[in-house]
Amino acid sequence: MNKLIVNVLAVNAALGAIQLISGYSYNNCIEDPYSNGTAFNCKNRKEVNMFAIVKDLPSSAINLTIFKTYAEYIPNYSFQNLTNLQLLKMDNNYLKTIDEFAFQNLHQLQTLNLSCNDISELKPSLFNDLHNLTNISLAYNKLKQLPGGIFASTLKLNIIIIRQNFLTNFSEIAKSVSHLKTLRKLDLSSNNFTSLIHSNVSLPKSLASLYISKNNLLTLGCKDSFLQYIKVLDLAYNSRLPTKAFQGVDFSHLNYLRLRSTNVSIVEFLNISNVSPGHVDFSGMRLKNGSLVSELCRLLKTKVKTLKRLSLNDNGIVNLTNYLLSSCPEITGELDLSRNRLKSTSCLNFLKGQTNIKSFNAEHCVLKSLPSCRHSKVYFKNLEELSYRYNRILSVSSFAFNNMPHIMTLKLNINTIAFLDRKALKGLKSLVTLRLDNNLLTDLFNDTFADNFRLQVLNLRNNHISVIFNGTFLRLGNLSILDLGGNKITHFEPSGLDGLQSLSKLYLDGNNLKQIDTSIYRVFQNTLTTLDLQSNLINFLTDNQQSPFMNLSKLSDLKLDGQRPHGMTVLPQHFFRGLYSLTSLYLTNNNIYRLPPNVFDDLTSLHFLALDRCCVGVTQLQPGVFKNLRSLTKLAVEDMGIQNFSKEVFGNLTKLRSLQLNRNVMQNIQVDALESLPKLHYLDIRNNPLSCTCQNSLLQNWTQNNPQVQVVYLYSVQCQDHSKFKFYNFDVKVCYIDLGEYMFFSTAVVIFLFSVTPLLHVKLYWKIKYSYYVFNAWFSDRWRRLSEEEENCKYDAFISYNSSDEKWVMEHLLPNLEGNGSFFKLCLHHRDFELGRDIVDNIVSAVYSSRKTICVVSRNFLQSEWCSLEIQLASYRLFDEHRDVLLLVFLETISDRQLSSYHRMRKVMLKKTYLQWPNSDCMNPGEAQKLFWNQLRRAMRKGSRLETEENESESFVTAKSEEYEDFKNSDERYLLP
Ligand SMILES: *[C@@H]1O[C@H](CO)[C@@H](O)[C@H](O)[C@H]1NC(C)=O
Ligand SMILES: *[C@@H]1O[C@H](CO)[C@@H](O)[C@H](O)[C@H]1NC(C)=O
Ligand SMILES: *[C@@H]1O[C@H](CO)[C@@H](O)[C@H](O)[C@H]1NC(C)=O
Repeated sequence: MNKLIVNVLAVNAALGAIQLISGYSYNNCIEDPYSNGTAFNCKNRKEVNMFAIVKDLPSSAINLTIFKTYAEYIPNYSFQNLTNLQLLKMDNNYLKTIDEFAFQNLHQLQTLNLSCNDISELKPSLFNDLHNLTNISLAYNKLKQLPGGIFASTLKLNIIIIRQNFLTNFSEIAKSVSHLKTLRKLDLSSNNFTSLIHSNVSLPKSLASLYISKNNLLTLGCKDSFLQYIKVLDLAYNSRLPTKAFQGVDFSHLNYLRLRSTNVSIVEFLNISNVSPGHVDFSGMRLKNGSLVSELCRLLKTKVKTLKRLSLNDNGIVNLTNYLLSSCPEITGELDLSRNRLKSTSCLNFLKGQTNIKSFNAEHCVLKSLPSCRHSKVYFKNLEELSYRYNRILSVSSFAFNNMPHIMTLKLNINTIAFLDRKALKGLKSLVTLRLDNNLLTDLFNDTFADNFRLQVLNLRNNHISVIFNGTFLRLGNLSILDLGGNKITHFEPSGLDGLQSLSKLYLDGNNLKQIDTSIYRVFQNTLTTLDLQSNLINFLTDNQQSPFMNLSKLSDLKLDGQRPHGMTVLPQHFFRGLYSLTSLYLTNNNIYRLPPNVFDDLTSLHFLALDRCCVGVTQLQPGVFKNLRSLTKLAVEDMGIQNFSKEVFGNLTKLRSLQLNRNVMQNIQVDALESLPKLHYLDIRNNPLSCTCQNSLLQNWTQNNPQVQVVYLYSVQCQDHSKFKFYNFDVKVCYIDLGEYMFFSTAVVIFLFSVTPLLHVKLYWKIKYSYYVFNAWFSDRWRRLSEEEENCKYDAFISYNSSDEKWVMEHLLPNLEGNGSFFKLCLHHRDFELGRDIVDNIVSAVYSSRKTICVVSRNFLQSEWCSLEIQLASYRLFDEHRDVLLLVFLETISDRQLSSYHRMRKVMLKKTYLQWPNSDCMNPGEAQKLFWNQLRRAMRKGSRLETEENESESFVTAKSEEYEDFKNSDERYLLP
């Protein structure tokens, strides 16, 4: 009676809660948890039907991305209820057909991206409602033409991108954009235009950038004034476009012109065009040798006094003869010689007479070394930027930059530098950014950076440095970012990082550090904000390690994920002491076997914690482990083997907004634990084996119709026990069915008792007492008889197995137990279940009318059947009725590790003995199998009282006793569904 009332109260309380709070979800989209219902992503869905993709989105949507779905067709009025959309990205789908009124009602839309689809045709009034459209991309489709008037009502367009289609008629395009007064950019690259012939229209004055590269232009054919307002014009890769096409064309506003890989002769072109020569990109113009360059220079000099920029990329230049550019106008800005075949730049001596350049690039060449420039006579007082990226530089000699001491940015990355002379960077007192990443450096000397005291960013990533010697960075008091990732660093000498008193970001990921040395961080303990230790060899042997981060009071970002080779195993309990400013912490991809309950205690500022795959198999998160994470807004605990989502663990996360519980092993989730997260907006519980039983009925109810918590892709979540059914709508009627009556009845009884008892007590005291004793006697008698009936059960054993093991059951188990001299009566579901009767009834009656339940355990069984109704019933009998009805027969050897995720199975095994079927590949299967059958028969004959079990047969495997104690003390219970 007591129990009953408690149950009713519990259900009642839970029902009350349902009305307060629940969750919501979208069929094919995910709402950005930080967007307040304004941004939605519908990505990688197999859905074909556009209407189905967007139908459940709320009208608050402003940004919508539909990416990599199978949608081919956008029907009329698809977005009619999403009237607030400003951004609609539908790139990378299979869109072919778009109905005329598909975008009806999108009056607020500003950006429409339809690129990377199969669109070959657009309806003329398709964009009629898009009055506010500013950006449109139709790139990478199959358009052969645009219908006239397509942009008739999109008067605010700024950017139109139609590159990579099959357009041929330029005139038509010019006509459709001519009225767009705010158009700034038109990209028509990679189409099939042969000319720019246009009938009587002009381009909008606002149009500044026009891209028509990679077409098939044979001529321009436009009016002389047609391009007069264009500022950026790209005509590259129209290989048949001749010089004479430009005769008379007005380029007076042009400030960038690209003509590479056309048939234009640059000298002739400059002679006939009014373009300002300083604005032409001379890359790819076949200016191979010095005389062609000099000729160009002389011509330029007749037109302008100074050049801001000279680009001579990709001209096949091999040698930089002295005075190469001395006949050029004075270059005051950038000189770019990238993608030539330069073997050496010889201290830039070829620039004699051009020493005012600010920036010099020779990327993607074949430079082999940088010699000493100590005795160079050419001096560059203005050179601030130098880039030699993507070369084959092997060595950098001392004083390599001696004649350009004011460099601020030096890029030597992506070379093969193995030898950087200790005096190579000598004299670079203005250097701010130094890129040496992706080289072959092994050693840094203590005077390598001696002069670079203004350095702020030093990138040494992906070299072969193994030790940081004392004093290496001693002079770098202004350095704020040091990237040493991807090296082979095993340790720092004691004062290896001395001098870095302004360091803010330190990247040490991908090295070979085995431990975290506290003392080396001393120098920048008041400035360091980011420390990346990902993918090192860090591991600890004991739990009692002092915190290495104790004094890093400003540290906000810490990465410790993916320690090699197999992950960190011990996380010392004081490890994160003192990290009061930490906002994000990554511990993913480790192998931690225990998260101490107080390990995160100091992290009161933490916003983001990533624990995905951080731990061994089933690591129990201990109650209170997150208790101080008062600022946490995002928690990623995917793939951690979490079984129980409990209030004790997660209940303190009062600011949590986003919770990722994907890929765990939870069969049910406690609604009260979810309710204890008041700020939760985003919950991902995909890929959990949620069971569709009454214990999840509250969860099912909670996950729907909730204005606050988005449950990601809820409608795709399957029932683990019946993959045909979906979690969101499994039948829960049965769980509540009689509740109304039940509560009415129980309330009525209580009231009745309260009013009648005093009366009866007075009038009928003795009579009641007598009846009670009579009833009691009758009841206990009946109970005893019922129990005895068990001894004459209908079956000796009920067999629970997975259909994939049916062969074994039919070929081995049946003959050996039902025939072969023994006459057990077995109950097999396909044979003995009553047809037409409810499956649950059948199972209940099978388990209860069989003396034993034999589980044939295999990997398939564990995956699909374990936790099925029959096992729950049998284990219920085992734990609650203290009747030993369960016999486990293991068909395969299943390692402890594999078993560890089947926690309940392990517990049963600890409580119970089990039998292992001898593998047929063992020495003498015949004998071993004989023994097996004998043992099984003996176990079946045994009574089902529990007392005498533990030490019976020596060939039975028995549990370790201390684990058994552990189990007894745990208060986990097995409830009937
Ligand atoms: C919506 O898209 C715009 C443009 O890409 C972006 O700037 C903005 O941050 C997005 N808003 C949200 C909430 O994602
Ligand atoms: C969402 O709403 C909250 C409170 O109403 C506000 O603090 C936050 O800035 C909003 N976020 C966005 C992206 O609009
Ligand atoms: C828009 O809303 C109306 C009424 O709420 C509904 O009938 C219609 O199906 C919705 N259309 C779309 C495309 O979702």
